[in-house]
Amino acid sequence: MVAVESVNQILKQALAEISVCEDLSMLDGLRVRYLGKKGEITSLSRSLGSMEHEQRKAFGQAVNRAKGEVAQAVTARRQDLESVELNIRLAAESIDVTLPGRGQQRGGLHPVTYTLQRMTEIFSRLGYDVATGPEVEDDYYNFESLNFPPHHPARAMHDTFYFGDGRLLRTHTSPVQIREMKKRGAPIRIVSPGKVFRSDSDQTHTPMFHQLEGLLVGETVSMADLKGVLQVFVNAFFEKDLPMRFRPSYFPFTEPSAEVDITWDRGDGKAPGWLEILGCGMVHPNVLKACDIDSEKYVGYAFGMGAERMAMLRYGVSDLRQLFENDVRFLRQFH
Ligand code: DAH
Repeated sequence: MVAVESVNQILKQALAEISVCEDLSMLDGLRVRYLGKKGEITSLSRSLGSMEHEQRKAFGQAVNRAKGEVAQAVTARRQDLESVELNIRLAAESIDVTLPGRGQQRGGLHPVTYTLQRMTEIFSRLGYDVATGPEVEDDYYNFESLNFPPHHPARAMHDTFYFGDGRLLRTHTSPVQIREMKKRGAPIRIVSPGKVFRSDSDQTHTPMFHQLEGLLVGETVSMADLKGVLQVFVNAFFEKDLPMRFRPSYFPFTEPSAEVDITWDRGDGKAPGWLEILGCGMVHPNVLKACDIDSEKYVGYAFGMGAERMAMLRYGVSDLRQLFENDVRFLRQFH
């Protein structure tokens, strides 16, 4: 019975090795080593041929039992190892649903957009309707109806983008005055925010910028009304009382015309100086006539100002280009 004992010996060793095996591929190595074609237990069957009947029976049974037990042990161990592996993976990939969310990045309006909205809103509160017009205009709306005669030198002040077919990119929001007066007649009270374009690009000019146009036409309108309304606007926009002055100027579509300055502390230690923020005046009778409004009965005032300049003053931005580079680190400060 020495032979049977040696089977048990191999079985014992196999089971011991399987029970401490910690790795699936090593476990498969053990399976091959004992149960593979040339495995230690499989090879035992070869000695059967040389055995007596009784011995062969006992030995054969021992070998079969050993094969069965080893196969079973391998299967059981594999299941153990697989479930350990699964648990490790589950732990590693687990999601803590009780953690607070990461939240969403909040976007924001561009400071110029916001400024233009704010300017528009202040005038809405004063009873002005909001009107917009096309960015692609023609000579009539951008110049002629606004009392720029052909070849008038004032046209040269506007470095106009022409399409070559009579159309152009509007150089100011003033054409909206014409469109609205033709559409609605007088009396009228509007502001018009929007993009304007000039072929001009340096430290203080960009080819596209924004303006807010204002127009009020009625039967008893004076320059004093204009000054009053602009002072209310300036104080509301900057949220403080700012001294303001009218300085005589020239625009073809207003007579008289003025530029408006506010006092501004540049923060350089020097006394506050005057800073120009807008152009304005009393609507020229020729402009009213172009819109079929009786210039004997009606008078009006108009004004136009740049949104970028107002945004820079309000937020203390010193370089115009920052408003157009769209560096998110800059823009984020205005959310
Ligand atoms: N359109 C002028 C410009 O772009 C600004 C302006 C000045 C508008 C006087 C007006 C005004 O309505 O009355 O330079």
